[in-house]
Amino acid sequence: MNRRIGVILFWAATAVAAPAFAQLNQSRCADCHYANPSSPRQDHLQEWDRSPHSRNNVGCEKCHGGDPAQFEPFLAHRGILNSSNKASPVNRRNLPTTCGACHVGPFVAFQDSRHYQLLQSGDEKGPSCSTCHGDTDGRLLSPKALASECNQCHGPGEQVPRAERARLVRDQYDGLTVVRAQMKLAQSLIRRVSDKGRRAEYDEALNQAQVPLTRAVNAGHKFVYDELREYLGVAQQRVEALLNRLANR
Ligand code: HEC
Ligand code: HEC
Ligand code: HEC
Ligand code: HEC
Ligand code: HEC
Repeated sequence: MNRRIGVILFWAATAVAAPAFAQLNQSRCADCHYANPSSPRQDHLQEWDRSPHSRNNVGCEKCHGGDPAQFEPFLAHRGILNSSNKASPVNRRNLPTTCGACHVGPFVAFQDSRHYQLLQSGDEKGPSCSTCHGDTDGRLLSPKALASECNQCHGPGEQVPRAERARLVRDQYDGLTVVRAQMKLAQSLIRRVSDKGRRAEYDEALNQAQVPLTRAVNAGHKFVYDELREYLGVAQQRVEALLNRLANR
């Protein structure tokens, strides 16, 4: 396509798309909660505001229910239950299902874990999704912060002491950090390849490494790490083979 025409079409498409997107984005929940200082959990609002959830149009109602098209609080709140209610979608026991509607990979693996069994049996001692990711901020913990999270329960002197669990988790996720850095490096090297066909080939190889990497992150939600290690090994082999090709071309 003529480049100038391409640019004009792109401009026209965004100009048309912008108002449609703003309309899709209409969720009254956050607007009113921000405007109303008596509304509960201001910290929660701020976490949401900075989160990948607010950036990706995951409004309050996606976790809490209610009707986001209403201005009137009684109508907006219809069906919303406090998190202490066992039937609430944000009760810690129901969070795997609520979050898992969108995050299927972690949810499926989590269901194989002892932690999930504990939650399902009504035992309050194990973690739920929000223990590691926050209620709404979708944060990802560093390997070190994750190990100290495990130690909240498995550390010496805690309720279920097993010090090796935190050590093991730290090693696994340090390994993940290394592979991620290799992926980044490969990506930046690919960007410098001028031949389009070649670049597409390398991009495909990078995707082939990304697939097992995502599986590794998902499998981590079993908290027993054989599967994570296996997928991570495959991802690393693939990205290292790609880095070799990029270095020797
Ligand atoms: C017009 C203002 C307004 C709108 C619209 C609104 N809220 Fe609220 N919300 C409040 C206020 C004020 C409170 C605290 C007093 C109360 O419980 O009514 C509250 C309370 C809550 C609570 C606490 C309930 C509890 O049992 O502790 C939740 C959860 C909540 N809102 C979520 C939402 C969601 C989700 C939406 C959109 C579907 C929404 N709100 C829409 C003003 C609003
Ligand atoms: C990704 C899911 C998620 C999103 C999005 C979310 N929340 Fe929450 N919210 C939770 C969880 C989980 C809790 C329970 C925290 C706890 O156990 O103390 C909670 C608790 C609350 C509470 C305290 C009352 C209660 O039931 O414990 C209010 C009020 C609230 N949220 C309002 C909002 C508003 C307003 C928004 C949008 C700006 C929002 N939330 C977006 C997950 C979410
Ligand atoms: C309606 C769908 C939806 C729900 C419900 C939802 N999320 Fe998300 N979440 C998203 C989207 C979309 C993103 C941003 C895109 C992405 O990173 O996958 C995201 C991002 C995240 C991230 C960051 C991922 C990354 O790679 O940076 C985490 C962690 C997360 N969510 C955890 C949760 C948890 C925990 C809950 C429940 C308390 C939850 N989400 C509920 C859709 C949802
Ligand atoms: C004990 C801690 C812990 C619990 C509980 C937990 N996660 Fe995770 N989660 C992690 C770790 C660690 C990662 C990987 C972090 C990284 O990629 O750097 C992760 C990654 C994620 C991601 C990002 C996936 C990606 O491909 O980037 C999502 C989404 C997510 N978890 C959702 C959930 C959901 C949903 C639940 C509940 C069913 C849950 N997590 C429970 C620790 C936890
Ligand atoms: C909120 C508390 C809590 C947190 C946080 C927590 N656990 Fe657990 N975990 C438990 C409890 C309770 C049990 C059940 C008793 C036991 O087996 O030791 C358990 C069981 C386990 C088991 C046994 C699984 C099996 O199949 O027998 C493993 C492995 C485990 N946790 C690893 C971890 C790791 C790794 C982390 C951090 C990423 C972590 N846990 C974070 C409370 C927690």
